[in-house]
Amino acid sequence: MSPDPPKPFGVKLDPQIQQALEHRDYELLGELGRGGMGTVYLARHRKLGRRVAIKMLATDRQTKENSIRRFRREARTFAQIRHPHIAQLYEFEDTGSTQYLALEYVEGTDIEQERRRGRYWSAGEVGRMLHSLASALEHTHHKGILHRDIKPGNILIERDTGRMVLTDFGLAKGEADESLTATGFAVGTPAYMSPEQISDRFGIEPDGRSDLFSLAVVAYEMLTGEHPFLAGDDISTMRRIVKEKHKPLASLRDDLPEELVSVLEDMLHKDPKKRVENAAAVVQRLGPLYGSASPHPSPADPASSAGERRSSSGSAREQLDRLLSPGKLYLLIAAVAAVTLILGIGLGILIVSLA
Ligand SMILES: Nc1ncnc2c1ncn2[C@@H]1O[C@H](COP(=O)(O)OP(=O)(O)OP(=O)(O)O)[C@@H](O)[C@H]1O
Ligand SMILES: [Mg+2]
Repeated sequence: MSPDPPKPFGVKLDPQIQQALEHRDYELLGELGRGGMGTVYLARHRKLGRRVAIKMLATDRQTKENSIRRFRREARTFAQIRHPHIAQLYEFEDTGSTQYLALEYVEGTDIEQERRRGRYWSAGEVGRMLHSLASALEHTHHKGILHRDIKPGNILIERDTGRMVLTDFGLAKGEADESLTATGFAVGTPAYMSPEQISDRFGIEPDGRSDLFSLAVVAYEMLTGEHPFLAGDDISTMRRIVKEKHKPLASLRDDLPEELVSVLEDMLHKDPKKRVENAAAVVQRLGPLYGSASPHPSPADPASSAGERRSSSGSAREQLDRLLSPGKLYLLIAAVAAVTLILGIGLGILIVSLA
């Protein structure tokens, strides 16, 4: 994994924003990403010396009132959550004209960036992602918080450890919230929405099972390189999510542990009543394979999970991937160069002694 370094600034920041950051002792270092709500910057707290991700609300005048209410709600939601697989909120600054969240900085990349690079994911990596994120969702659902926007761009990957971290509670809904959207109005990113977020034909308001469906779509795409429902436009995609059966996972990859396939297929049921009942059930079922008590849980060692040791037919490709990983490739080149040098010197000595 070779994440892009944060982009240095090309434009000068709004002086009001700059002032709001200086006021709290933040020094801006670069830009991490942009989304519907605004821009995420990398900054350093001068006194504490720690780096943070600053999620700054865009100062777009037309949508301002609604956006500010939404953003304040995101801050309140983040503040209720504490979990190793969810970005930690440090503080929320709201000057009236400038709003930002200071969040734990997860140094690395996100699943969307990796997807665009066409990254190949092993069963172990995806299994651990599912286990970690289901555990994060078990925590938020227990607090009555639905994420409602589980998608590759909202799952960060820490470079050094492989830890997967959920972020972006901008569309989250809490138990006590009056919704910011009209009842029945679809909320989320079309390709990762659940059937019940799109249509009321199942007679069920989205609950925790809706987040689990979206999570399974992310995992399915990581494993197969194919989105299960994507069509030419959003409406056709949403129609497929509600009406069309996806291609069975096992028909696209035959090297996956049975339990991983079974859990994912259970998460992908269109009817929430037939879907896996809650996040705790996913955590429990995947725990023996990918949890911290599994024989080889290290996230930094994707090839070592029990699931992969069970599989055989996909191992050749995974071994090749591992062999060609940048670190190992450099070692291989260095070893070949060293052997060539030694042989060359030996040959030279031989020629000189024979002459
Ligand atoms: N804590 C963090 N550490 C590192 N990078 C982050 C962090 N939070 C966000 N990012 C980067 O910024 C991007 C946008 O963040 P986020 O999803 O919170 O914003 P958004 O405006 O709600 O986006 P969207 O509307 O596209 O979902 C992420 O995809 C990620 O690449
Ligand atoms: Mg996002």
